[in-house]
Formats: sequence, C-alpha cells, structure tokens
Amino acid sequence: MTVLSGRGLVKHFGPAVALDGVDLAVDRAEAVAIMGPSGSGKSTLLHCLAGIMRPDAGEVHLLGQRVDTLGERRRSALRRSRFGFVFQFGQLLPELPADENVALPLMLDGTSRRAAVKAAQTWFAALGLAGMEHRRPGELSGGQAQRVAIARALVPRPAVVFADEPTGALDQATGHDTMRLLVEATRHNGASLVVVTHDPSVAGWCDRVVEVRDGRVRPPAEGPPLPPPGGHAPPPVPWTS
Ligand SMILES: Nc1ncnc2c1ncn2[C@@H]1O[C@H](COP(=O)(O)OP(=O)(O)OP(=O)(O)O)[C@@H](O)[C@H]1O
Ligand SMILES: [Mg+2]
Repeated sequence: MTVLSGRGLVKHFGPAVALDGVDLAVDRAEAVAIMGPSGSGKSTLLHCLAGIMRPDAGEVHLLGQRVDTLGERRRSALRRSRFGFVFQFGQLLPELPADENVALPLMLDGTSRRAAVKAAQTWFAALGLAGMEHRRPGELSGGQAQRVAIARALVPRPAVVFADEPTGALDQATGHDTMRLLVEATRHNGASLVVVTHDPSVAGWCDRVVEVRDGRVRPPAEGPPLPPPGGHAPPPVPWTS
C-alpha cells in the first residue's frame, strides 16, 4: 500500500533546476534510500515530499490526500503529526535533557509534559540509551545523540520518517549501527523511511535504492543487487514494544 507519493515533482531555484519531474511512491513500512551526487536534488526531493518545501509543479499525496497544496499552517501540523525527521546533526535542543528532547513533539501536540516525558522514557532502553535520559546533548556521543534524534522522530508514531545524511557526521562503524537502528526502529513501528545517504553500504540496509541524477530519478540499474553491508554486523536490536 502506498503511503506517500510524489508525482511529476519539479523545483527550480532561479535558473537552476533542482527537480526535473520526479515520480516516487513509498509503501507502508518500506525503507527507501535516496542516493546520488552532490547537488543532484536529493535534499530538495526529501523537502518536497515532507512538506517542508512546495514543488513548482507536481503533486504530493499522503495516504491518498493531496498535501502539497495545503497552506503553511496545515502542512506544519501535518509534519508534526505524521512525519518524523532525523538530520545529519540531530538538532537536539542543547539546554534540554535527552528525555525532554524526545518528549518535545508530543508536548507540541498537546500532551502534558509529565505524560510526554514518561512516554519518551520508554524508548531509551530499546535504543541502547538506558541511563542517559537526563543527559544533555552535549554529554552524549555523536551516535548516542543520533539515537535520541531517532527516538524523537518516532515517538509521535509517524507514518513516514525522513532522514537526510543521518550518519554523515559519524565514523563508519557507529554510522552502520545507527543506520541499522533507524531502519529497524522505523520498520518495527510500521513507519516508512526515506533516507538520503552517500554511503552505499548504508543503502544496503534499506529495501530499495533510488538514484537521483540532475534532478531526475534514474531507472534501476541492470545487474546484481547491492551487496550487503561489508563485514560489520551490529548486534540485533532489542525491542520492548
Ligand atoms: N535554497 C536554494 N537556493 C538556491 N539553490 C538551491 C537551494 N537549494 C538547493 N539549490 C540547488 O538545487 C540543486 C539541488 O540541491 P540539493 O540540495 O537538493 O542537492 P543534494 O543532492 O541534496 O546535494 P548534497 O549531496 O550536496 O546535499 C543544487 O544545484 C543546489 O545548488
Ligand atoms: Mg543534500
């Protein structure tokens, strides 16, 4: 079942064509990796699909409803309730402890602080963060901070999680662990994942790779599928829910 789709997406920045007619459909609980050279339009595609940016032409549908034509206020509400985001730098609020960072999306949608923090704390053990609930982002490693960002993205039970180079600032082994966690955690929660990455082994965790070149999606290459991520096998992810 298609959860999110972009059809004929076009986006210009002045004379530059960032998207030149992109079609992309994402199924329920599917993990899609978006790859391609720098400047090819990956982030622009993600921003159009996520309702952060309006395409110049084309349509975006979420669960059958057209969303690109909604006004800024409704798109913003949609982003908060239906989408989760993980960026290269977690963009956690430095003055808040980890559990309150995770609780924030729930509080913004009206859950009381107490209930939101309680719900947030249930995520820590499953993400290997037990005991770190009260640390501030500055007291976490890069990988731990990204796991807090993953929890924050998932806590409102979104339909789709968007991640733009989520492991770009991590070393390779930590990046693989984090990516594995991101893919498994979104899948376990029934959410779809759209992840931009430059790392081909990271893309190996996903169900499908979409290649973007010059603002277009390239047809899938002929030949063997991607090899599994080389050598490094992180431990299985424990799940409590
Ligand atoms: N806000 C903007 N204003 C002007 N041009 C932009 C803007 N955002 C993107 N572009 C241009 O659109 C094209 C696609 O940019 P985009 O950020 O989507 O690429 P990308 O594939 O994400 O690259 P990278 O791998 O470097 O992040 C580029 O030519 C870029 O310079
Ligand atoms: Mg980008």
